[in-house]
Amino acid sequence: MGVDPHLYLMLPMHEGDFYRELLDSEGHDVEYLEVAGEVRKAIIMNEEASSAITVFNGLGPDITEKNWDEYCLAAAKKTQKGEIVLMMGSLPSNHPDNAIDRLAKTIDAAGGKLLVDTSPAAFKSRKTEILDFISPNLEEAEAMISNKSGDLFVPNDENVSKRALAAAEALFNKVGKNIIVTAGAHGCAFKNADEHWWLPAFVISPDQYKSAVGAGDSFVAGFAIYYETHQSETNWEEAIKYGMATAAASCETYRAGGFEKSRVLEILSGGIHE
Ligand SMILES: Nc1ncnc2c1ncn2[C@@H]1O[C@H](COP(=O)(O)OP(=O)(O)OP(=O)(O)O)[C@@H](O)[C@H]1O
Ligand SMILES: [Mg+2]
Repeated sequence: MGVDPHLYLMLPMHEGDFYRELLDSEGHDVEYLEVAGEVRKAIIMNEEASSAITVFNGLGPDITEKNWDEYCLAAAKKTQKGEIVLMMGSLPSNHPDNAIDRLAKTIDAAGGKLLVDTSPAAFKSRKTEILDFISPNLEEAEAMISNKSGDLFVPNDENVSKRALAAAEALFNKVGKNIIVTAGAHGCAFKNADEHWWLPAFVISPDQYKSAVGAGDSFVAGFAIYYETHQSETNWEEAIKYGMATAAASCETYRAGGFEKSRVLEILSGGIHE
């Protein structure tokens, strides 16, 4: 997308070099906190005969409390005032009870804004901090509200926009100040102190569609790029549209995030809504 985010990763040392080489070969600006253990692997299977996808999420390493504190402090040191920091992916196993609170506090102290996109189970480690941004998908948002782990998702395509709006309302000012509830091909609900609405997703033609794995991550990337460059006068609808167009472009490739910026802009300008 033409920006160079700085990645800060916990890298388990066992087999870590392989992943370091992969990230280097893609040209990322990346720093690591080395921890003991093995890299968590996710295996994604795309069926040839249908659009069904199966994802196996492996277990991550067990980290220590000291690892987490070191990670939070170093992440805050790399954060500049007003910058948006994205906490993406599942927390490592054995993370401290209040892991998200600790990260939120250190990023806040550095003057950064934190967006947390992680599994509902990990949100149990948030008790006191009201986060700047959260972006669960609808199933995750509903699991957070009913206090379930969210490990088992039962797809439910009924009343999607109404449910997403209700979930965003329920999480507002309890978990976050800006709530984004994404709902796959349906669209996205948004709620903050001033606004509460639903926006349908861009429609991808069936012959272009490849895989929605990583759509949520791509959404966050697009949203954050818009937000970072329009902070003084954020148009939230534009920010969400930018996120949805980025996500739609990522659905047109198998590799999560493996798309061209020009395609995002094309979808944004010519995109047809549902
Ligand atoms: N089939 C699709 N067609 C159009 N847009 C899509 C489709 N799937 C996802 N999107 C866009 O991506 C956004 C995020 O998708 P989704 O709600 O599936 O995220 P997610 O479940 O967090 O994904 P992941 O965890 O795999 O990254 C949606 O709000 C929508 O704008
Ligand atoms: Mg997601």
